[in-house]
Amino acid sequence: MSKTMASRLITALLFVASFVLALPAASHAKSDGRVIYDRNCVTCHGQTGKPDPSSPIVKALGVVPADFTDPLFNSREPGDDWKMVIKYGGAALGLAQQMPAHEAVLSDEDIEAVTRYIKSMADTRAHPPGEMNLFLPIRTKKAFPEDEVVYRGRFTDQDGDNSQKHVLEIEKRVGKAGQVILELVHESDNDVSELAEAEVGYKHALSFSNSHILSAAAVWAIPVEAEGDGELQTYLAYGKVLSDSWIFQSSLRLKFPFEDASDGEAELAGIMHWVHSPWPRRAYPALEITATNPFRSSNGDLEWTAMPQVRIGLTRGGHVALNLGVEFPLSGQAWDNRIYVTLLWDFADGSFFQGW
Ligand code: HEC
Repeated sequence: MSKTMASRLITALLFVASFVLALPAASHAKSDGRVIYDRNCVTCHGQTGKPDPSSPIVKALGVVPADFTDPLFNSREPGDDWKMVIKYGGAALGLAQQMPAHEAVLSDEDIEAVTRYIKSMADTRAHPPGEMNLFLPIRTKKAFPEDEVVYRGRFTDQDGDNSQKHVLEIEKRVGKAGQVILELVHESDNDVSELAEAEVGYKHALSFSNSHILSAAAVWAIPVEAEGDGELQTYLAYGKVLSDSWIFQSSLRLKFPFEDASDGEAELAGIMHWVHSPWPRRAYPALEITATNPFRSSNGDLEWTAMPQVRIGLTRGGHVALNLGVEFPLSGQAWDNRIYVTLLWDFADGSFFQGW
């Protein structure tokens, strides 16, 4: 046998051997979400993803798992949050401990595959995905339609128009991509302290994917104790996931006072958050910049501010969170700084007292 024939034979044998050896490995590597689900999840979550409350197992659990076939529920929870729940169990993320951890029985690829499978159990194309429910900034408007109660405090020296404010916001989802807004604004400065205005509005997500969202909103501010006829505010809000660890949000807001619309102003705001961990109960720093321009003024009057801030998840699932920030004037404004405290409760994810 010549040398070349021998080497050809060896090459051919190696070629065949590589197939034989690779086959079981290849079929093992490809995780099948449905198979994993049927094996590990179906007893509690039901064949289709809709749990059967009359089944003895579900009855024994004492908690009925949520319905994966409901498009609103299925869309609003980010897939990455579900992967955490599946891997580490309900209790780790502030949910019921009856949801077991699968860290020991499923690989990360299996968890990825089963998450994709349960995400496919509802047609969610008309609903903005929960991935776009980005952190709430201080001034930049959020694009995602939410079920949330938010308190915002702005603490200042209360001198002149540098008023101190307490705002209570109730946001409620309506339809597939809409949200109504109700706000009460209390203001105080050196002269007055009053329930200044109530605001009602509507926000709608116009365009979204797994990495961006664009919404438009209109808000009517009605004076309660404050003077004047109120104003109309409109805004566009945009959110974008830039990478695994950076998210960007921006909004353009226009305010038109009813007495004289030319007294209004335009405000552009933007923020970058550093998302350094998949765990919600962490501190996430961000830098926010705003530019405000009264309609009447020339560009020279553009007022800039910078707001370093931090989002702190308080509950294990992060559905109650705090945001603390300081605003610094960058354009020689008459005030030194303003301190902001925001407390938010995402009530779709559980009661205020759950998961601490
Ligand atoms: C022993 C019963 C049981 C098994 C088995 C089980 N789950 Fe659960 N799961 C639950 C319960 C109960 C909840 C509800 C927790 C809550 O709402 O507090 C839950 C919650 C969840 C959630 C969170 C939904 C939300 O509210 O955001 C996901 C995702 C999930 N399960 C996926 C799975 C997957 C995937 C499997 C299989 C790999 C699985 N579960 C196996 C009982 C179970």
